[in-house]
Amino acid sequence: GVAGGALAADTWRVATEGTFPPFEFYDSNTGELQGFEVDLVKEMAKVMGKDLKLESMSFDAIIPALISGTVDAGAAGFSITPERAKRLRFTVPFYRSGLTIVVPKANKAGIQDFDDLKGKHISVQIGSTSMAYAKKIEGAKVTTFASAGDAILNMLAGNADAVINDKPVTDYIRSRNSSIAENTIHLEPIATADQFAMVTTKANAKLSDEMSAALKTLKANGKFEELHQKWFGR
Ligand code: ARG
Repeated sequence: GVAGGALAADTWRVATEGTFPPFEFYDSNTGELQGFEVDLVKEMAKVMGKDLKLESMSFDAIIPALISGTVDAGAAGFSITPERAKRLRFTVPFYRSGLTIVVPKANKAGIQDFDDLKGKHISVQIGSTSMAYAKKIEGAKVTTFASAGDAILNMLAGNADAVINDKPVTDYIRSRNSSIAENTIHLEPIATADQFAMVTTKANAKLSDEMSAALKTLKANGKFEELHQKWFGR
C-alpha cells in the first residue's frame, strides 16, 4: 500500500554537482552540500510546493540523467548555450558569468589572453563550457578533470599551461585557498558572456515554467537578493 508515503508527483528531483563554489559545493567541516544555487532550489521548492530531492552526480552525467528521466531538472551552474538549447529547456537566468583563464604564477607559457592558448596544454572540468571552448582552440591539448579545482591542481603540478573556468568559481576558489591564490594568476580577459540557468528537458516545459516563476517570485520578494548577498557579499 501507499498509505503514509509521499506522493511521487510532489517530489522534485534535481541533479547537481558539488565542486562548483559558491554555487554548489561541500562544506569541508560538515560535509554538507551548500551554496547559492543549493539555497535557491531549496527556496524554489517551497514556492513550488514540492519536496526537493537533490542528487549529486558527475557534471557530465547530468544531461544524460535528464534525457533518460531519472531526474527532473539540473541545477549545476549550467551556462545557457545554443548547443544545449537544442535538446534542453533553460529557466530564466539567475547569474551572469563568463570564462576566464588561470595560469601558474611563473606563467612560463607567457599567456595573457585567449589567443595565447593556441597549441598550449589546457586543463578543464569535464562536460563544461570551458571544455567545449578549449577543444576549439587550435592545436590545444585538452585534459579533463572531475572538477575545476582538480584541473587547477593538475596545472600547479606542472602538467598544464592554463585552466579555463567560470570566473566566479575561480574567484571563489582563489579567495578561499591561499595556496592556490599565491601560486596562480587569474587573468582579466573574459571569453564569453554567459548566463547561468537551470535546465529540464524540452518535454518538461511545464516544470521549467514553474521553476522560472519560482525564481521570479524569489527575485520579487527579496529572498534572491538576500541569498546573493550571503554568497557573494556586496
Ligand atoms: N558553467 C559551466 C557549464 O555550464 C560549468 C558548470 C559546472 N558546474 C558544476 N556544478 N561543476 O558548463
